[in-house]
Amino acid sequence: MSDSELVAAARKARRHARADYSRFRVGAALETSSGTIVTGCNIENATYGLTICAERVAMFKALSEGHRRFRRVAVVADTAAPTPPCGPCRQILWEFGGDLEVVLANLRRETGRMRLSDLLPLPFDRRLLK
Ligand code: THU
Repeated sequence: MSDSELVAAARKARRHARADYSRFRVGAALETSSGTIVTGCNIENATYGLTICAERVAMFKALSEGHRRFRRVAVVADTAAPTPPCGPCRQILWEFGGDLEVVLANLRRETGRMRLSDLLPLPFDRRLLK
């Protein structure tokens, strides 16, 4: 699957964002190792703290559908500068996706590309729980 297809899926998912409080809509698309795309959008709540980001929605949907291995994640927001995953999302993506390729984009173009290990260089993970 091309990068542009993955980004297009994230843009489409973003349209479903429930961002009534921040108005900051985000879409994410995860590519599994078999090439399936699982999408997510951010979902906010009047209590604010129960808000969940697009990336975690995508990952939790994917895990709950039985997907176990992942290659890439695309994240789309309507910002000129890159919108990278937040800290908790980095941790969750690392836990279940490992060193994913991360593609950032806005509504018109790609804004950044990196590996998750660049965003989370010294992760706390299962290797430390020996
Ligand atoms: N948000 C995401 O969904 N993903 C990100 O990568 C950054 C932030 C959401 C959370 C909240 O609903 C809104 O964007 C503003 O922070």
